Amino acid sequence: MRVPFLDLKAQYESIRDEIAEALQQVLDNTAFAGGPFVESFEKDFASFCACEHAIGVGSGTTALWIALSGLGIGPGDEVITVPNTFIATAEAISFCGATPVFVDVDERTYNMNPDVIEAAITPRTKAIIPVHLFGQMADMDRIMEIARARELSVVEDACQAHGAQYKGRRAGSIGDAGCFSFYPGKNLGAYGEAGAVVTSNSELAERMRAVRDHGQTRKSCHTIIGWNGRMDGLQGAVLSVKLRHLSAWNDARRKNARLYDQLLADVDDVLTPTEADYARHVYHVYALRTQNRDDLMSTLAGKDISCGIHYPVPVHLQEAYKQLGHGKNSFPIAEKCADEFVSLPMFAELTAEQIEKVSKEIICFLERSAPRV
Ligand SMILES: Cc1ncc(COP(=O)(O)O)c(C=O)c1O
Repeated sequence: MRVPFLDLKAQYESIRDEIAEALQQVLDNTAFAGGPFVESFEKDFASFCACEHAIGVGSGTTALWIALSGLGIGPGDEVITVPNTFIATAEAISFCGATPVFVDVDERTYNMNPDVIEAAITPRTKAIIPVHLFGQMADMDRIMEIARARELSVVEDACQAHGAQYKGRRAGSIGDAGCFSFYPGKNLGAYGEAGAVVTSNSELAERMRAVRDHGQTRKSCHTIIGWNGRMDGLQGAVLSVKLRHLSAWNDARRKNARLYDQLLADVDDVLTPTEADYARHVYHVYALRTQNRDDLMSTLAGKDISCGIHYPVPVHLQEAYKQLGHGKNSFPIAEKCADEFVSLPMFAELTAEQIEKVSKEIICFLERSAPRV
């Protein structure tokens, strides 16, 4: 039995007719760039996130950049974020002309550690971007408390956290803005590239809408220098269909995570994910930690089980950010995670049999390999 890391085909098969009908409507209306299908998705997604506004854009990276631009972040500013994220979080800061300032993460949730934020704040700090890594939200109350006391904006990078909750509040609804990626493999994935920013601040929403559309506030009136960041109509239609299924798919991911947790509970040498008391994790990624990661992954590959690593090199050690001057041991927990993380197959349609096979092969591998010293 093959166990893929992700099976988009299985998901597509379950909604094939709904998708065909939605795509046909876009074609019949030739509403390809922005337009009514994007607007309808924006309305539904804002309400899903318990926010007043959603602005559909071309990708999660664009969402982050538009949020920062809309908040007025620019050259000379600093934005605090974490190094164990996809590079897009830092890129969006850099594309505004600002500088990413990294802080280390919490040992158990792998999210921004609120205890180390204060020390990173300087007179140039303008914003904080917590990343809700793997589908679990960062400790938002503590982050918001620090941000409000220092008059800093907060942009949630919720690109991996569609439908995740913090003390019952939805990802994206706590900071000034929340950014989502609809890259095809996400919990809510488009059939191409797409993203969105959500906010309940109407003035910010208006600015972000203008930035997304060449700085236009009305037809041919360009009040600011913007960009083409629009979502296309086909993606809006696909996302509207898929949003109807998202809660059920997230529930299925949680059920799958519980089965992995249970089967791997008493296994030495692997650390399963921790769901914080405050969190409703949506398991975009189910990442184990083990010191034998590379051997484990190649053994599993030999048994037809595909895994991933999110992410093998933290952003501060990437060549692209060498000018920031961070060496090894700058952020020890993020670096340790990068060395030890292995992401197991995780998607809604994963079967109990597949999870049992993955868990059994992990246990067999660990029994065969040398004990940890
Ligand atoms: C944490 C995080 N931030 C930002 C992004 C960027 O999103 P996109 O690939 O849609 O531009 C991603 C997507 O992989 C992500 O996982």
